[in-house]
Amino acid sequence: MACASLSKLNAASSQWIGQQSFTQRKGSSTRRVSVPIRSKAYTEELVQTAKSIASPGRGILAIDESNATCGKRLASIGLDNTEVNRQAYRQLLLTTPGLGESISGAILFEETLYQSTTDGKKFVDCLRDEKIVPGIKVDKGLVPLPGSNNESWCQGLDGLASRSAEYYKQGARFAKWRTVVSIPCGPSALAVKEAAWGLARYAAISQDNGLVPIVEPEILLDGDHPIDRTLEVAEKVWSEVFFYLAENNVLFEGILLKPSMVTPGAEHKEKASPETIAKYTLTMLKRRVPPAVPGIMFLSGGQSELEATLNLNAMNQSRNPWHVSFSYARALQNSVLKTWQGRPENIEAAQKALLARAKANSLAQLGKYSGEGESEEAKKGMFVKGYTY
Ligand code: 13P
Repeated sequence: MACASLSKLNAASSQWIGQQSFTQRKGSSTRRVSVPIRSKAYTEELVQTAKSIASPGRGILAIDESNATCGKRLASIGLDNTEVNRQAYRQLLLTTPGLGESISGAILFEETLYQSTTDGKKFVDCLRDEKIVPGIKVDKGLVPLPGSNNESWCQGLDGLASRSAEYYKQGARFAKWRTVVSIPCGPSALAVKEAAWGLARYAAISQDNGLVPIVEPEILLDGDHPIDRTLEVAEKVWSEVFFYLAENNVLFEGILLKPSMVTPGAEHKEKASPETIAKYTLTMLKRRVPPAVPGIMFLSGGQSELEATLNLNAMNQSRNPWHVSFSYARALQNSVLKTWQGRPENIEAAQKALLARAKANSLAQLGKYSGEGESEEAKKGMFVKGYTY
């Protein structure tokens, strides 16, 4: 849809999108007043940004681990969690030649957004040279949700507008906010409502500041439930998320989703095939996600690199109403870390490993991945109970 007509549509349907009408009482008479809800300064740009991220054969490289989580990645190859080591690892990833062929966006942690290569080139410029859109994780992590069944809620709304404006100035054009829902813990109605409301407030604030929000209510893999139970919870969660996104006047053409795939719980006795996972996941999405949304960018959630790619491929065997792609962290980084081992002489091989994974997922986005020739490392599951990001 052309952007000019989108702006018109917004103006025409102002009761819902641009303005809200209220009845005001003055003495004995009443009159209707219109109150603008939010500016549409970025409408056109948001639509373009979302479209360019959701472009054929490309997806998102998620490297927005908090310093604590990045420390766990580095510890797995015997490195200390220092700024120098985090910078070296991110430099390896972000300077991979040809990365932009399969990667359209990269989600960064705040520290990385402001860092440069050891030669002094800003990371955001390395990304731009490869036509990769820089993104930023804006949530402040999970804390226990009082009054719930051991569930959590996601912090970060305070000061979000000014932080987002600063991130935009630094070159970020999209944002990510990850909240989680646990099936074994219920999920309670309170936890689902809180997750959905938080995502919607964040999405509205991001759009107001020129950032395309990635909406990510991660339904954790934890649990021994069957796939039908995941479907039921996912439908509930997404219906609430869209209810509050609409209530907060979020422009659907300017968001991206980051759902979990609909799978059985990690401890369920039977595994599901990629075809079954694709069938359940697409059924859920078609029931809940309007076609105005440009892209569905899945998280990997602890699946092995191979599983995540095969499942994505299965979802792209027929046409979907949206671009169906990836926004993987663990399923793009595992072989890279193992290859690098923190040694300068392994950087080139590690970058090749990243390109190989990115290319495999690019083919899966196009529905053309065969799964042949994958390493043993790519087959290793990465599920961690109660994973925090
Ligand atoms: P993975 O589940 O793919 O590791 O990443 C989750 C995430 O939110 C990264 O931004």
